[in-house]
Amino acid sequence: MAIRDVLRMGDPRLLARALPVECLDTPELHALLADMQDTMAALNGAGLAAPQIGVGLQIMIFGFQESVRYPDAEPVPYTVLLNPVLTPLGSEMEEDWEGCLSVPAMSGMVARHARLRYQGCDPYGSAIDRSVEGFHARVVQHEYDHLIGVLYPMRITDFSRFGYTEVLFPEGGRAGD
Ligand code: NI
Repeated sequence: MAIRDVLRMGDPRLLARALPVECLDTPELHALLADMQDTMAALNGAGLAAPQIGVGLQIMIFGFQESVRYPDAEPVPYTVLLNPVLTPLGSEMEEDWEGCLSVPAMSGMVARHARLRYQGCDPYGSAIDRSVEGFHARVVQHEYDHLIGVLYPMRITDFSRFGYTEVLFPEGGRAGD
């Protein structure tokens, strides 16, 4: 288990489409997930996708009880999600601030589907099928974007609401990247 380097925006590997995971419950998969968990914890991340550590597979982890980076967010159960399929529920969009471990020290306002169904499986092959809303729905959409080569700045429509976290939020309360 180890803390891995997180690729930063500009690295072409962050723009590639990830491939489905075909071999579940292998030692290699569990070792990769342990590294992802260590890396996310060390950086206080709310989520992490495998492409962010240079592994082009459809794997994301997310969840927290309390987030330093998103102090106002409701808790999200810790989840390992493989080969996800997302289905928006309804057409309502919601705007909120996002950051990304691959875009350190920045924050931007991004519109996401307010409600969402996501399906996939866990590392043992058990099905996951949840309908969620709010920050939970946001973090899944953000991590899913990493699997299709999209970073949140590519979703920003109003660049007056994109900048350095410590400048946007001088009162603090956010981790800064
Ligand atoms: Ni990210």
